[in-house]
Amino acid sequence: MIVNIQTLPTDVVNLIAAGEVIDSFAAVVRELAENALDANATRIAIAVFPDLWRVRVADNGTGMDLTNLQNAASPHSTSKIRSKDDLYKITSLGFRGEALHSLAALADLEICSRRVDTIEGWRVTYNTQGEPVEIETVAIAPGTVVTVSNLFGNWSMRRQGLPTITQQLRLIQTTIQQIALCHPHITWQVKQNDHPWFTISPGTSSRHILPQIIKQVRLSDLQELIVDVPTPLGSREWGDGEMGRWEDGEMGRWGDKQLTTNNQQPTTNNQQPTTNNKLSLVLGLPDRCHRHRADWVRVATNGRLVRSPELEQTILSAMARTLPRDRYPICFLHLHICPSQIDWNRHPAKAEIYLHSLSYWQEQVTKSIEQALRISATHLPEASHLHRVEKLLKVSEEKAGYHLNRSVQPTPQTNLEHQKITELELIELRAIAQVHNRYILAEHPTGMWLIEQHIAHERVLYEQICDRWQLLPLEPP
Ligand SMILES: Nc1ncnc2c1ncn2[C@@H]1O[C@H](COP(=O)(O)OP(=O)(O)OP(=O)(O)O)[C@@H](O)[C@H]1O
Ligand SMILES: [Mg+2]
Repeated sequence: MIVNIQTLPTDVVNLIAAGEVIDSFAAVVRELAENALDANATRIAIAVFPDLWRVRVADNGTGMDLTNLQNAASPHSTSKIRSKDDLYKITSLGFRGEALHSLAALADLEICSRRVDTIEGWRVTYNTQGEPVEIETVAIAPGTVVTVSNLFGNWSMRRQGLPTITQQLRLIQTTIQQIALCHPHITWQVKQNDHPWFTISPGTSSRHILPQIIKQVRLSDLQELIVDVPTPLGSREWGDGEMGRWEDGEMGRWGDKQLTTNNQQPTTNNQQPTTNNKLSLVLGLPDRCHRHRADWVRVATNGRLVRSPELEQTILSAMARTLPRDRYPICFLHLHICPSQIDWNRHPAKAEIYLHSLSYWQEQVTKSIEQALRISATHLPEASHLHRVEKLLKVSEEKAGYHLNRSVQPTPQTNLEHQKITELELIELRAIAQVHNRYILAEHPTGMWLIEQHIAHERVLYEQICDRWQLLPLEPP
């Protein structure tokens, strides 16, 4: 559905933290790409011309008719929210109606657009107040092409304060990669000075995007987990008919609950938490990939990467035990949660959020990471699992068929067995072989373990020290 652009009422404008929306080349790319995503585009082509201080973003989204095009760069004009209440249920990436207006003030702005359901396309240029100047028809495919040229041309101090072009280009690339990670269904084509720069192919989930961004990582190195998470009780629930954006680009219909305030109980009949939220995790398998810095622990909420030191710390703590010393995990966490749980209106770049019930989400993240790391045939992609086991089991009997396919299938679990798996210390292991003079192969009722002898020995020593540990009073000198 195409919604018309309208100017926000003053009481709403006063509540919005717009600030410096455009502070760099990368911010231009971010704002234009987010507009394309809000217009349901599936293909976004970006061209950067650093010498001309120009960026062009073309999308195949819903497009705009002439009336909307004329209003697009006016101050506080948006099609995404209408009233104060909408600020607490934001499901789009934009909501302030400020980005295009700021761009008109800071650069030469031109927009060509054609609505999907019309045959006529329009080209409009704007003055520094965001008012239309030139208007003409144009031949264009359905969608929108926004061109921003001569950025900060009249603001020489701003240009001087920016990092070098190389650094700015790197920031643009990072910005696009981050958005792509949160919206894996999009095809990205990026050019620099009309030469192909890089592309990102679409995938069914972020797991398919990560290997395109981190070159050392392969698809089979990554583990993915998507779980439904109930909204914490006592929080605002989804309003009737609210729409949410999902990672695969579908607009999912969320719960049918009435809006309640933070202090009230939700007005459901049975007072049960709803499961409208999704937590999606992509983890680098700890024995396959890790980093020497914590630079690939990323958190996104509802389609946008955000800074969340608390959730990042939760991820680091949950994975610390599985990694070698001084190494850090690769982990992308995407929370798709009821918008009433988030306050986006904190930061002009929307990079910081306030998440209600933070400790609840931290707990969910820890649980999910534990679940994702509990390696079993059902969790691990089959091929890579077998490959890893086969590689390690180089036993002497060449023709001995180990039928790995069958032997690692999960056996039906009784409640008792399940309990055994969740409480690791209760698993009874039986050593059956030694591999490469380095690993002990042990079996247990529902699978098998490979134990690195050296690490096991360290653990034995550690436990011996713990057993013999005593607190002794210090002798006075
Ligand atoms: N690529 C596009 N395709 C279709 N409509 C667009 C596109 N870009 C902008 N628009 C329309 O122009 C309006 C103004 O865009 P602008 O980016 O200034 O504000 P916004 O996205 O609503 O909020 P924000 O300032 O938070 O980004 C949008 O609300 C949308 O209706
Ligand atoms: Mg916008």
